[in-house]
Amino acid sequence: MALNPLKEPQLTALQVMQDAPVIPVIVLNDVAHAVPMARALVAGGIRMLEVTLRTPQALACMEAIAKAVPDAVVGAGTVRSAADAKAAANAGAQFAVSPGYTSAVGQACRDQGLSLLPGVATGSEIMMAQEDGYTALKFFPALQAGGSAMLKAWGGPFFDVRFCPTGGVTPQNASEFLSLPNVACVGGSWLVPADALAQGDWARIEKLAREARQIKRA
Ligand code: 3PG
Repeated sequence: MALNPLKEPQLTALQVMQDAPVIPVIVLNDVAHAVPMARALVAGGIRMLEVTLRTPQALACMEAIAKAVPDAVVGAGTVRSAADAKAAANAGAQFAVSPGYTSAVGQACRDQGLSLLPGVATGSEIMMAQEDGYTALKFFPALQAGGSAMLKAWGGPFFDVRFCPTGGVTPQNASEFLSLPNVACVGGSWLVPADALAQGDWARIEKLAREARQIKRA
């Protein structure tokens, strides 16, 4: 289906993916954590922040970061509906990440001026996202759905697609994914551990970001 853009996003999905080797997948339960966490990630060189819509505080956290940390680019993760996309845009998100893909979510993101990284795990899902104009996709859940071998196989028929594998990616296996020509970046939750948030250990999050920034393609 041809989707109509109502607002042009400030950044394309590919620009979001190419800013750093890793997009952190973030779960926040406390609005007080949002700004110091975002500042720590930015200090470590990671600016594209995926705050997942998995907690009641997620939207307030996005809003806080968008207002107080101008060097961060806030994105919304776990976008599963048009309502999620609208709420994320209202909270200041500039991009969206979805665990799967529907044209309704794609259209809602275009209406809201959000660039979208649609989640895919099969060839048919890639084709549906491509039909709607998406060529920068999230591969989720990456490790469970076939890992780097799957991405290599997709590189044949889907030679024009770039992926952000997410789910089971670690500092140990990230460079294996990043060495594939069709991988633009990876996503992972390890940059923002729950215990570091609980302890207010912003230095640890900054260090994890700095290390992630330096991950090289194998
Ligand atoms: C998620 O959506 O939870 C991401 O895929 C993060 O997965 P990870 O915890 O394995 O990095």
